[in-house]
Amino acid sequence: MTLLIFGGTGTLGRQIVRKALENGFQVRCIVRNKRAANFLKEWGAELVYGDLTLPETLPLSFQGVTAIIDASTTKSEDTSELISVDWYGKLIVIELSKYAQIKRFIFLSILNSEKYPYITLMQMKYRVENLIKSSGVPFTIFKYAGFFQALINQYAIPLLERKPILITVQSPTISYIDTQDAAFFCIKSLSINEAQNKVLATGSSQTWTAEEIISLCEKLSGQKAKTQTISIYLLKVLRQITGFFEWSLKISDRLAFIEVLNNDQNFASSIKYTYDVLDIKPNEILELDLYFREYFEMILNLLENLNAEQLEKTKTSFI
Ligand SMILES: NC(=O)c1ccc[n+]([C@@H]2O[C@H](COP(=O)([O-])OP(=O)(O)OC[C@H]3O[C@@H](n4cnc5c(N)ncnc54)[C@H](OP(=O)(O)O)[C@@H]3O)[C@@H](O)[C@H]2O)c1
Repeated sequence: MTLLIFGGTGTLGRQIVRKALENGFQVRCIVRNKRAANFLKEWGAELVYGDLTLPETLPLSFQGVTAIIDASTTKSEDTSELISVDWYGKLIVIELSKYAQIKRFIFLSILNSEKYPYITLMQMKYRVENLIKSSGVPFTIFKYAGFFQALINQYAIPLLERKPILITVQSPTISYIDTQDAAFFCIKSLSINEAQNKVLATGSSQTWTAEEIISLCEKLSGQKAKTQTISIYLLKVLRQITGFFEWSLKISDRLAFIEVLNNDQNFASSIKYTYDVLDIKPNEILELDLYFREYFEMILNLLENLNAEQLEKTKTSFI
């Protein structure tokens, strides 16, 4: 079976490529820069040049393809670029999928995208979800709250660098997932008929508030975090003053999620449903505390060795 993957160089995309290859799929990746994507070729994937903003670069790559996994998105701060990639680009991919009679289209979306039409990325995600559902192409849509990997930048690095960590009053409990596990869910769904035409909320089985993540990081690093608290009410007011969502994506990524994910009581049961459909046991999935434990052990080890080396250099420089 040949899998066509968009976004194969991305944080989640590369794990999907790796997992697909491990499971014996032929993998073709659409990439914008073949040199930067060379590591995917070394793993065994075929690279084809393509850009979602250049429709003419896409059709040929659909030849002989059975299934598509779309893990692409833009992190551009420019709204028109966002619409170009995350809406128009997807329109073309869906049209081409119909034409090529693709057997499964896996799309990666964001939890609660339907509730926030005034957030451009959310609106685009929700529109694409609907378009896929009405396209006639068999699909599976995975919806995430966030990846473990993003929490390194959000919590671990500021803590290690003694910079402030932004949190909200009454921070919501959120279920994150490791990208390796998110990739496992995607690839497994391809062989499960029951996953066809389903929208599946995806996360690990434990949920975390920002305060809990911070105290976990403090415990593992042995350092005290500096936090800066901001109210969700203030965020909403700020957004109205600044004219809906003309914030930078970087900020909206971080802060919009806080509002979006706040108090979603159905999340736990939606996640359980996903595990049942895909026949995955919670103990097969990495939990955040273990992920952070490995991260801090690695970093602290590295720091210790670096310091020792530096100390050695400093010592010998006096000789
Ligand atoms: N990150 C999260 O916490 C989170 C949460 C919920 C949902 N999601 C969804 O999960 C998916 C993967 O997210 P991620 O964080 O792994 O994304 P990412 O690391 O930002 O990767 C984005 C990928 O899209 C590709 N891309 C961007 N513009 C393109 C274009 N014009 N044409 C072709 N490819 C293009 C990038 O290729 P280049 O290497 O060429 O830039 C890259 O491979 C996305 O759909 C995202 O919305 C993510």
